[in-house]
Formats: sequence, structure tokens, C-alpha cells
Amino acid sequence: MAGYVIDFEPIGRRGTVGADQSILEATRELGVDLVNLCGGAGTCGRCRVQVLDGKVSEIGANEQEHLTKDELDKGWRLACETYPQADCKVHVPPESLTAPQRTQVEGLEVAVEPDPAVVAHPLELSAPDLSDLRADGDRLLEALEQERKVTCTSIDVETLRGLSPRLRSQDWKLRASVREGEIVAIGPPEGRQLGLAVDLGTTKIAGYLLDLEDGRTLSSHGIMNPQIAYGEDLISRLSRAMESREEATRLQQLVVDGLNQMAAVLCEEIEGDREQIVEAVIVGNTAMHHLLLRLAVDQLAMAPYVPSISKSQDVKARDLGLRLAPGAYVHFLPNIAGYVGSDHVSMMLATGLSTAQRVTLALDIGTNTEVCLVSGGELCSVSCASGPAFEGAHIKHGMRAANGAIESVRLEQGKVTYQTIGGATPTGLCGSGILDAVAQLYLAGILNRGGRMDLQPGVQDDGDLREFILVPQEDADGRSAITITQKDVRQVQLAKGAIRTGIQLLLQSKGLAEDDIDEVIIAGAFGTYIDVGSAIAIGMLPHLPLDRFRQVGNAAGRGAILALVSRAKRREAHAMAGKVGYIELASSPDFMNVYTQSMYLGPYRADED
Ligand code: FES
Repeated sequence: MAGYVIDFEPIGRRGTVGADQSILEATRELGVDLVNLCGGAGTCGRCRVQVLDGKVSEIGANEQEHLTKDELDKGWRLACETYPQADCKVHVPPESLTAPQRTQVEGLEVAVEPDPAVVAHPLELSAPDLSDLRADGDRLLEALEQERKVTCTSIDVETLRGLSPRLRSQDWKLRASVREGEIVAIGPPEGRQLGLAVDLGTTKIAGYLLDLEDGRTLSSHGIMNPQIAYGEDLISRLSRAMESREEATRLQQLVVDGLNQMAAVLCEEIEGDREQIVEAVIVGNTAMHHLLLRLAVDQLAMAPYVPSISKSQDVKARDLGLRLAPGAYVHFLPNIAGYVGSDHVSMMLATGLSTAQRVTLALDIGTNTEVCLVSGGELCSVSCASGPAFEGAHIKHGMRAANGAIESVRLEQGKVTYQTIGGATPTGLCGSGILDAVAQLYLAGILNRGGRMDLQPGVQDDGDLREFILVPQEDADGRSAITITQKDVRQVQLAKGAIRTGIQLLLQSKGLAEDDIDEVIIAGAFGTYIDVGSAIAIGMLPHLPLDRFRQVGNAAGRGAILALVSRAKRREAHAMAGKVGYIELASSPDFMNVYTQSMYLGPYRADED
């Protein structure tokens, strides 16, 4: 049967479907839970998807009814009415999914004395009259000086534009939000002062809305990075941005739209307003940082991989296209090196690495994995190109962590047991499931140290491809069997090899062995859900007792919150970034040797041949 490969983003499901199947039918076949209230009759208008690439059937009457011309021009279609006529890449927006993806945004309470960069001052001004003809802005600045002992030298121009009508409508009572001598927002006297902390990841974006006065997290929300449609890893995004200014702008706009929507959702949850957000802190890897700030990326993508800037930046939110309080700033924490960004600094801040007394290894595992080693009071970091395999990409039945994803696997006496997210019928494997599956196959002797799959019960071989059947077709609710293939194992070896190489070269640089490590801190969404025993079994993590490992969740997000709430923490981050050493892995003379050893499954051995 002829068919087309359909790639659903950002859910990360792809597969071949029949040439006569609609996109809706393809979602059913590939386990993407698309909303289809009318069951595919074309009447509910809820199965909206955006065709990013590939040829599809002509626009039908139902689509013209449910979608605007502008939407149709941008590739939006009804999945039930659209038939692929070639391989396609299809974007599935969150509102078209029946079950949301798992993005890690647990409530992050942080114990820090609030000391934000923006301070609110309630004031009541005297109204002008014939004996007092001072300008409104001057009146405000003088009242701040006299009543609050706060010297301000400027009022943000957008804030100033709304000042006079606002003073009169609020009967001269107000709250002035002041940041380093500048009034950045004016609000009603009883209004709240909010802050936004964002961990801008290559794959996921986590946002937190805080009350800046007491430091409480009021709401949190996670979305997939909308840039995924333009490439899953950093290099493909950078390459895209280097093609033209228009492409770079498109990538930036995607993230800005995502952040604006996120801010709206966060505010809606607390019945707040985006104009109450007077300060934001955004952390991310250097590529995400540069793309959002619309900085040149050519020099970042080519050796010797130099960022445009490493030092922290304060930028007006509106200059980026973010819709917060008119005068709000976004503070960007410092980067360390080309591929070690402010998310790493943020993770170090949240985990207290700069004051760690013991030998500590901290990893933030993602599409790019940063690793920091602390020993003798010195910090040194590396960046490992671990790739998107643990996000489910380039894995035959890989998918991101959503309902139905197998998240853990056990293989005992030839019998496979597994657990899916949400207890749903299995539709694929997410990162922790992929890691578990490879570890279990290795421990059962089905994979050898080199990663080769042996022909044993459960393994099928059609001559081209060897694969182990995890879920037979009869248990997959009519979908095809879920397997882990020889190629998948290679992808995992590449990813875990990259991470282990970073760890080994860091240890070597300090003359340490893995047993010298007192504590291993694992940060990040993927790191939260992995089985540490499996990661040790395949040799991704050092062979140490389990009680030396600590899984800390989204530490980068927590660091962003700390830097938002506390100026002291912001200063600490800046000081720390300035003293972190950095090793460029590829330039290390031992790189190829260590990388080759790191690809083997099982404990790391320096003498492997
Ligand atoms: Fe209702 Fe497509 S499923 S319009």
C-alpha cells in the first residue's frame, strides 16, 4: 500500500499512513489524541491543525466555513477534511489535543527574602489647581521623593503616555512601580505587582507567575516551544535563523507569541492582567537567548562558538514584542559560553552549587545537556549535544511525554511489563520509557555491550531491521505493535555517550574518578522522570550508590524565580557565572577516545576496545 510519512509536531509522533487517509485518520493510527467532537463529519471545527510542509488536498467547503482566509493562507486546516498527497509535517496546537502533554511546571516555592528589582509605592497626589500648575509627571516624581524618599529620574515613556488620564480616573491615588530610578508602571492603589519567570527550553517552555511582594508562585503553565516545527535541536534552529532575517524573525515571533499566550493563561488563572506584570526573568540556552533577543547567531553556530554577549541584559519587554506592563523590563541572566547558557546558571543558583563543599556533579538533561562539576570550591561546566532522542525524536515509536506514552518498562523472565502516562492504552515510548527499555534489554542480555541486538525470543528480524516487541499489536488497540529497534538503541547510545563523555572529561580535568563524586544532582523534566538505576545500567550516569543521586525537577525554573524575587540572588548568579570554568569538549585531545568508550552500554571502562 502506498503511503505518506506524517510528522506530527510538537507531539513528536510520526509514521506512515495510507494514501487515502485523512489527517484525522492518521492521528488515530499514530496515537495522537486529536479533538474530534463531530467524529470527523467536518461540522464541529475543532480538529484544527496547521500543515507546515507537504502537499495536501484542496480546501473544502467545511474548512472555508470554520477557518478564516488568513488562517487558511497560513496552512490551518480541519484534520478530518484534509488528505495528504505527499509526506507532511503537521503542527497540532494544544487546544486541538484531548490530553495535554506533560511539561514540568510543578509549583516552585522558594525560600528567599523578597527583594525584587521593582518596588511598588502607594501614593495619593494633590490635584492641580490655579495655585499649583505642576505637570502631572513632575507632581508624581516630587511626591515619590518627598513622601517615599525615593529618587526617580525618569518615567518610562509608554507609562507616561497613559499617566494623565490614569491619574484623573483613579482620583489621584495610585501605585508607582519603581525600578532603579525609573517609574515602569502605574496601577490602581490596591493593585498587585506581578513578576514572570520563564525557563525557555529548546523543547519546552515553563512559566511561573509570582506575587513580587511576598514572593509566592501564584500560577504555573507549561507549553511546547513552538519553534519545534522548525527543527528539534539547536543546530537546526540556528541554521534556519541564519538563512535570512525573515526566518530569524519568524522564529523569534513564534516564541514571543507562545510567551504572550502563556502570560495570558497565567494571569487568567488568578484573574489578573498582563499589565500587572512589571518584571520578567527569562533563562534559556544561548541559542534560545540569542533568537529571542534577535541577536546574530552565525558566530554562535560556527567554531569557536562565540556568543554575542554573555553578560546579563535588561531589555524592555515591549522591544521584544512581549505584552506585559508597558514599561516592564525582561532581565536575562548571564550566559557562560557558546553552548552553556543562562538556564545552566539558573540551575546552579537554585541548587546552591557555588557553595557546595563536597564533590558534586549537576546535570540538566535535555536536547542539549549541561554538566557542572564542583570540586575544591571550583566550578567547571561542559555542554553535551545529547540530541532529541530522549524527547522521542528519531526513535521509531518515540513520542513526547503525553497520555499513552510508555514511561517505564520492566523485563523479567522474558515477560514485558510497562506503565503508561495516564494509564492509557500505549501509543509509543517517551524518554524515560526508551531509557528503561534499552536498560532492560541490556540487563536481560538481549543487547550486548556494543548495543547489538541478539536474536532471542521477543526479537524479530525482517532482514533489514531487528526489533524487540514491547507491546504486541493485539495489545495496542488496533495500532501497530510498539517496538524498540536496533536503530533506536544506536540513537540512545549516541545520546547517552554524549552525556557520559562530558562527565568523564570533567572528572579527568580535575584528576577525579567517578567514585570521588559525593553527590549527583539531576535537574530538568526528563531527569525528573528517569529511573536512575536504568541510567546507571546503560552507563549514562556514574556507577554509584542510588543514595548519592538527587532528582530536583525544574531547577532552571526555580533559579529564574529566585532571580526574579531577589536582587541578592541575581547578584549571586552574576558572580557565579563569572567564575565558572568551561571546557569545549570537541577540542579536548581525549574527546574521541572518551566518546568511543562512552558509547558502550554498561559501566564506563577506560580500557574498552
Ligand atoms: Fe469535527 Fe473535524 S472532527 S470538524
